[in-house]
Amino acid sequence: MKKLISLILAVALLCASIPAFAEEIPAHVLVVWFSHAGENYNVGVIEEGNTAKMGKIIAEQMSGDTFELVPVVPYPEDYDSCLDAATEEQRTDARPEYDGEIENWDQYDTIFIGYPIWWGEIPNIVYTFMEAYDFTGKTVIPFNTHEGSGQSHSQRDIEGLLTSATVLKGLAIRGSKAQNDAEGTSADVAAWLKNIGLAE
Ligand SMILES: Cc1cc2nc3c(=O)[nH]c(=O)nc-3n(C[C@H](O)[C@H](O)[C@H](O)COP(=O)(O)O)c2cc1C
Repeated sequence: MKKLISLILAVALLCASIPAFAEEIPAHVLVVWFSHAGENYNVGVIEEGNTAKMGKIIAEQMSGDTFELVPVVPYPEDYDSCLDAATEEQRTDARPEYDGEIENWDQYDTIFIGYPIWWGEIPNIVYTFMEAYDFTGKTVIPFNTHEGSGQSHSQRDIEGLLTSATVLKGLAIRGSKAQNDAEGTSADVAAWLKNIGLAE
């Protein structure tokens, strides 16, 4: 009897160590975003930015870790001043700093990068992040919010910059939808993840 139990245990251990029998190892997912709370177009004054809301939904559905790019020097709360700040940083091609850094970067193989469209562009602080890390061999997936520009040319810009990564097709959602319609946003995210092969 003892021998039989030992044999069963040995077979169970062996099965667990062979990939075909072992549980599939989940991808290590990180969801990074920049998002601006305060006054914004079409949503009034908000406590949490539109892209942050979208990012949290993606992280939940992908069981991913999160990292928010929080500017060291905050952007102005009011919309018009924020428009001016964005104009100025684009004019000077600034690289605004953000708080902290990502720990254990090497453990992540799948990185979602989120941002609002600012004057048709990816905000400069996201470039600060993209230029700081080595994306070799990573899978990168853009996501963004906007109020009419869709992805603008941000998909192309990320593909052009992160050439050592595989960049999958991103998702653009209206900021007002991400802010006010969590259910609709969740459904859009779920359909997109399925479409790009990251969910069943
Ligand atoms: C400085 C600035 C520039 C913007 N430029 C555009 C734009 O060119 N096209 C567009 O569709 N929306 C534009 N918007 C709207 C934002 O993309 C939209 O409100 C987005 O959801 C904001 O996301 P957030 O709350 O995560 O920052 C702009 C907003 C700001 C503050």
